[in-house]
Formats: sequence, structure tokens, C-alpha cells
Amino acid sequence: MEKINKIKEEVLELINNSNEMELLQQLKIKFLGKKGQIQELMSEMKSLSNDEKPKFGQMVNELKQEVTKIIEEKVKELEAIELIKKLEREKIDVTLPSYKQVIGTTHPLMNIKKEIEDLFIGLGYTVAEGPEVEYDLYNFERANIPADHPARDMQDTFYINPEVLLRTHTTAIQTRELEKANGKLPIKVICPGKVYRRDDDDATHSHQFMQAEGLVVAENITLADLKGTLQFLADAMFGKGRKLRFRPSYFQFTEPSVEIDVSCHICGGKGCSVCKNTGYIEILGAGMVHPNVLEMAGFDSTKCSGFAFGIGLERVAMLKYGIDDIRNFYTNDVRFLKTFDRFD
Ligand code: DAH
Repeated sequence: MEKINKIKEEVLELINNSNEMELLQQLKIKFLGKKGQIQELMSEMKSLSNDEKPKFGQMVNELKQEVTKIIEEKVKELEAIELIKKLEREKIDVTLPSYKQVIGTTHPLMNIKKEIEDLFIGLGYTVAEGPEVEYDLYNFERANIPADHPARDMQDTFYINPEVLLRTHTTAIQTRELEKANGKLPIKVICPGKVYRRDDDDATHSHQFMQAEGLVVAENITLADLKGTLQFLADAMFGKGRKLRFRPSYFQFTEPSVEIDVSCHICGGKGCSVCKNTGYIEILGAGMVHPNVLEMAGFDSTKCSGFAFGIGLERVAMLKYGIDDIRNFYTNDVRFLKTFDRFD
């Protein structure tokens, strides 16, 4: 009896003084564990008479229950205190002003690129890309511009070595796509990408710029298909009812070749500063894919035909958004880029 009471007192005192979970765990082991003090008491039962045993057993059991209960209550108490402390620690003052979130905007050229891609995807084209560091083969040779041809002077090129260069036009993607098709028709691709030329940068020239190349090859493709497609493009980019003007031109990779002007979206064709009083703005080069280009890619040019066009994305963006200096696209002035928030 004495021992039992002593244990009970000891437990109460220790519990009252332990304000940490860890201590409570230790106490639990000390009293209730397999080798704990209460279990030890049980083993003393053998030394008692048979009369005393049941009573003693009952008392030890009661002690065990009581100690268990005391410890559990203390655990709950400590948990409650811990929770209050935690809530206090993690309190958030929702009335404090927040930090300003600086969010970027989509680059205007990316908007145009996406717009053109979406437009042609809607017409059943797929989007194709190619490497910016390109072989002379795809950039010139396969575009029917042989070595030493004076046309290579027109496009002053960044050469990496005599065979490798920074592509000067997305026509390099066109020639790759023709090869990739491996003789299979039809081909309908739109090929956007960056191109490079050794130009001195000024308001209308940039040594790096973007183009999108369109290419359709199948049986019986004619200039009329090109006209319809470009009318669709002009209406979508500059507003319905644009008038197109086809001027004869010359590119090595097309025959016939044309340059296309679109009626000025600012003055509607009457003449203004944007169209330099001509009523028209030149927007792209195009033509029927040259038989040589088809043959070099393994097609029989008597059995199929195609049209191609190349459009400068900066030019479209400048016309559409009224930007007067191409360098704005590449100097990354946040104030300039921010103005395109509303076009996202
Ligand atoms: N590659 C030409 C350039 O960079 C643009 C071009 C003209 C592409 C006519 C074409 C085309 O596909 O048919 O100036």
C-alpha cells in the first residue's frame, strides 16, 4: 500500500512539473513501460499470501489506470497549449499591404507568331521549325541559289565556316520540310523562326529578325491558291476587306515570283505617312515553288506544284501596332514591352 501511494504521489508531482511532451514520454516509460515501476510492483505479487494477492492486484491495476489517465490528460493539456502557441506563431495580418507582383508580358513578336500559327493551323497546316545554325545546303543550295551565285551577295551572311551559317531566311526550313516529306504529298506547313543577316541596325533593319514561311505542295496547286491564302492572311492580320496587289519579282526559289502589297490599313488606300502616300504597303514575298527546288528534294515537278511565301514578323507587328523603330523589339525596354499587355 505504501509503495502504491508513493508511486501515485511521485507521478502526480512529476507530471505537474513536466511541461514538455518529451518529458511526459519519459515518464510514461518510467511508470507504465514493460520494465516500468508499476510492472515491477506486479512482480512483487509472488511474495504475498494468496489472500492478499487479489486485493493487491486490483490496487495495482487501479494505479495503472489512474497513472495512464493522468498522463493522457497532461498530454491533451500540453497539446492544447502547443496548438494555441502555433496559431499565435502563424498568425497572418491579412490587412497588411502586399508586395507588388511584377508580371512580364508576352513579347509582341511572340503575339504575331502565335497569331499566324493559329491562323494556319486553322487551315490545316502544321507548324515546322528548324535550326538557326544551318547548313549552306538548306539555306542556299536547295533553295536554288548555287555557290558563287551573285544572289548570295544580296543576303550578307554570318558564316560559321564555309558550310555552316546563321540562316538568312526561313526558306531554309522550307527546303528541310521538302526533304523530310520524302516524296509524300500533300505538304502544308507554316515555319516561323529567327533569321540573321549582316545588316547595320537602324530603324528598319536588324541583324536578327523573324520570318514565317508558308509552303504548300500537292497536285494542281496554282497561283490562285496562293492568292486566296494570302487574302485570308491579310484580312486576318490587318482587318477584313484588304486589297492585295501582286507585283512581279524575282526569287531564285520561286517561278514566277511576286511581291505582295496590301492596301493601307491606316488610310484605307487614300494615302498617308504609313504607306508613304501610295495606298499600299509591301508585306511579303511569294511565288510558285521553283521546279529545281522540288526536284532537288526528290519530287517530280511535272506531277506536283506548290506555292511558298515568306513574311517578316517585325514588319507585321510594326504595321499592326504602329511601331516606328525595329530596334524596339530587341532592346528589351520594359516600358515598351509593357504597352503590349492589352494584346495578350
Ligand atoms: N526568303 C525570302 C526572303 O527572305 C522571302 C520569300 C520570298 C520566301 C518568296 C518565299 C518566297 O518562300 O516564295 O527575302
